[in-house]
Amino acid sequence: MSVDWAALRGEARAMTSRAYAPYSGVLVGAAGVTDEGRLVRGCNVENASYGVTLCAECGLVSDLAAGGGGRLQALAVVAGDGRPLAPCGRCRQLLHEHGGAGLLIDQGDGEEPTTLGALLPGAFGPDDVDARAGR
Ligand code: THU
Repeated sequence: MSVDWAALRGEARAMTSRAYAPYSGVLVGAAGVTDEGRLVRGCNVENASYGVTLCAECGLVSDLAAGGGGRLQALAVVAGDGRPLAPCGRCRQLLHEHGGAGLLIDQGDGEEPTTLGALLPGAFGPDDVDARAGR
């Protein structure tokens, strides 16, 4: 499946208008597409107790599950200026569960997408749980 990166980035940027970020002022939007072509989205939702802030990718993963699940194939995360924003460490782990090492990640106009495997090498995933649980 080919990915329309400009469209995906546009969806992510549109999501920044829904961001709730009164503390950092950093608006973040995320948009992804599943292997079945379904669009999923999220925005960051901050909290007065800073540490429980939800990243845009958290919202996207929730949207994925709430909409019926599937595997993430491609993802764009942008700040309010429309430029790509690197998924934080926790979000890399969340995304790994639903897209694996092959998940394509936008790096911006004129740049080749990278993969989640490049951003989170040697990730701990569902297979590791199965192996250690003796299943
Ligand atoms: N943020 C995200 O939404 N995703 C990331 O991967 C990095 C950080 C948000 C969290 C917080 O609301 C703001 O960016 C500043 O850290």
